Amino acid sequence: MKATIAVLSGDGIGPEVTAEALKILKALAERHGHDWQFPAAPVGAIAIDRTGEPLPKATLDLARGADAILFGAIGDPRFADPSHKVRPEQAILGLRRELGLYTNLRPVVTYPAIYDASPLKPELLDGVDIMVVRELTGGIYFGAKTRTADSASDLCSYTRPEIERIVHLGAKLALARRGKLTSVDKANVLDTSRLWRAIVDEVMAAHYPTVTVEHTYVDAAAMHLLRRPADFDVVITENMFGDILTDEASMLPGSLGLCPSASLGAGRLGLYEPIHGSAPDIAGRGVANPYATILSAAMLLRHSLGLETEARSIEAAVAGALGDGVRTADLRPRGAAASTVEAGNAVLARL
Ligand code: IPM
Ligand code: MG
Repeated sequence: MKATIAVLSGDGIGPEVTAEALKILKALAERHGHDWQFPAAPVGAIAIDRTGEPLPKATLDLARGADAILFGAIGDPRFADPSHKVRPEQAILGLRRELGLYTNLRPVVTYPAIYDASPLKPELLDGVDIMVVRELTGGIYFGAKTRTADSASDLCSYTRPEIERIVHLGAKLALARRGKLTSVDKANVLDTSRLWRAIVDEVMAAHYPTVTVEHTYVDAAAMHLLRRPADFDVVITENMFGDILTDEASMLPGSLGLCPSASLGAGRLGLYEPIHGSAPDIAGRGVANPYATILSAAMLLRHSLGLETEARSIEAAVAGALGDGVRTADLRPRGAAASTVEAGNAVLARL
């Protein structure tokens, strides 16, 4: 199969973890005779350094013309001061908006071999298999902003079609999984949430009567994720709630370094990235965890290239490496840890 996979590795640990995912994709391409091209382009702080812009037009054009995008991470301590007008984060927000990637799939699964890496009790972690569907191009992230010296505002708005497409997607996923959909909102306070909840009820009653629907306020959801994580199947939620809840949920497997994501739109083009950031404190030391990016590459094969078997083989290889104790430093704070490259090689060896 011919495919173009744009590689935007970005800042900090982005290039290190992306290199490991690329290694896996190239090995699969060779093994199965796929003709995959991997053109690269700068994004984030490194792009600001080179061109003055976090998302140069050439990078956006490359991404737009590709079949899929493998994305590393963006962010740099030089832009830590929030008053910077040009920021690395604008690159990922720009890609999501420009490419219409309105759905963000964030699977959260636990691995028995590394239950001790989680701050939660092991008995809570059995059977955790959650698919968070985060709305990605609406809400407070993209609403109008105002700022004066003494006041600021960020508008949160949603429209019916923006909500409906997420509900349909979440419901279809639930049908193919354990048949349960949890919708997270703040309908006791926010009108956007009241609209969200009404549309969930309408769409589910009209089209998916066999799916069990649960509505949860976001504050309660944050608590239930730790108290009864195995009860969740598919979770649908708006942009910012999804951002916050998935960082929290990463503590179920035990590290942000284990959580991949897929950002999808109406077509097959998708952007695949770990949910973690650029981790400047450990960048360049070869110790970052590449599993989340490798698992993102698996999602790339599944959702953009339709290669379910290959996707599963990567996921099984990661589970195998973890099962055999190949742990990076985030999963083993004390004692000898595997390097980024060793973890990537461990997955490769188990493919
Ligand atoms: C994420 C990140 C981004 C977000 C940042 C980098 C803009 O936290 O993908 O979860 O908030 O969406
Ligand atoms: Mg986030």
